[in-house]
Amino acid sequence: MKVAVTGGAGFIGSHLVDSLVMDGHEVYVIDNLATGREENVNKKAIFMKRDIRHDLSNELEGMDALFHLAADPDVRTSAQDPQKSLDVNVLGTFSLLESCRKANLMRVVLASTSTVYGETDVIPTPETHPCKPISNYGASKLACEAYLSSYCSTYGMKGTALRFANIFGERSAHGIMFDFYHKLMHDGKRMEILGDGKQDKSYLYVSDCVSAMMIAWKKQDAQYDVFNVGSNKTVQVNEIARLVSRELNLSPEFHYTGTPRGWAGDVKLMLLDNSKIEKLGWAQKVSFVEGVRNYVKWLSIS
Ligand SMILES: NC(=O)c1ccc[n+]([C@@H]2O[C@H](COP(=O)([O-])OP(=O)(O)OC[C@H]3O[C@@H](n4cnc5c(N)ncnc54)[C@H](O)[C@@H]3O)[C@@H](O)[C@H]2O)c1
Repeated sequence: MKVAVTGGAGFIGSHLVDSLVMDGHEVYVIDNLATGREENVNKKAIFMKRDIRHDLSNELEGMDALFHLAADPDVRTSAQDPQKSLDVNVLGTFSLLESCRKANLMRVVLASTSTVYGETDVIPTPETHPCKPISNYGASKLACEAYLSSYCSTYGMKGTALRFANIFGERSAHGIMFDFYHKLMHDGKRMEILGDGKQDKSYLYVSDCVSAMMIAWKKQDAQYDVFNVGSNKTVQVNEIARLVSRELNLSPEFHYTGTPRGWAGDVKLMLLDNSKIEKLGWAQKVSFVEGVRNYVKWLSIS
């Protein structure tokens, strides 16, 4: 099949591209390299440096499916610059859906996020839980889901929104482990932890995230559906700090900024109910510890 991947030069997108290429698909990467890197793009894929906010109907002509991962994925900066997540995520997704409509591209898989829920009453949180985002990033992604749902209903497209937990692994240039690694490289004796270290969330290694995207794409029945994608266990920030330090053979003192949240919009407890995607045949394969080991090793040599 001919498949387009927006954000295919970024962290998760580039791993998805590898998997699609391995599956024998003809893959087209659309990325403006805002945070992505051309070196991440699989050599067998066709790279197009484009912005999703522009008309891409010519580029999408003849494609069988689109995986939409291009976004500004930063919760923290979405508090300081709320306009950016609106521009890139909401207006970008709207513009891309318009390009799909013009190009008659009828299958769209969207990378969404657990932050659409905000603080939840039910743990593990199912897809049916109300969404009350507490970050501008979460709000922007919920709007993306809403537009995808509407385009499916109005124009007969088939759409999937995948609400990812925290995803980590090789090629990631943001997130908690990336921050800890760089802090420890700077000072191996003392490390600052944002918040109280007790934030407790689900983390998933990137290959398991990619397999969930592939399975949902192939197996979903409904015209539009939403799936959680995460691990079935939480890990505390303190535990991650210990693990990353241990992998680097360091025993730093931890210092806390002290607030219950690491930053504005930081959800303290997040665990998704993954039973819906599991019913499609998905299962987590890589343990948290094994994933961290792979990622820290990659950070050390890259
Ligand atoms: N990493 C996570 O923990 C996580 C969790 C939940 C959801 N997500 C979602 O998964 C997707 C991928 O995230 P990631 O962690 O790989 O981030 P990333 O920053 O590595 O990838 C995003 C890619 O989008 C590209 N991009 C940004 N703006 C663009 C634009 N206007 N036009 C074209 N390309 C543009 C960037 O250059 C980059 O390559 C995002 O939609 C993100 O919201 C990620």
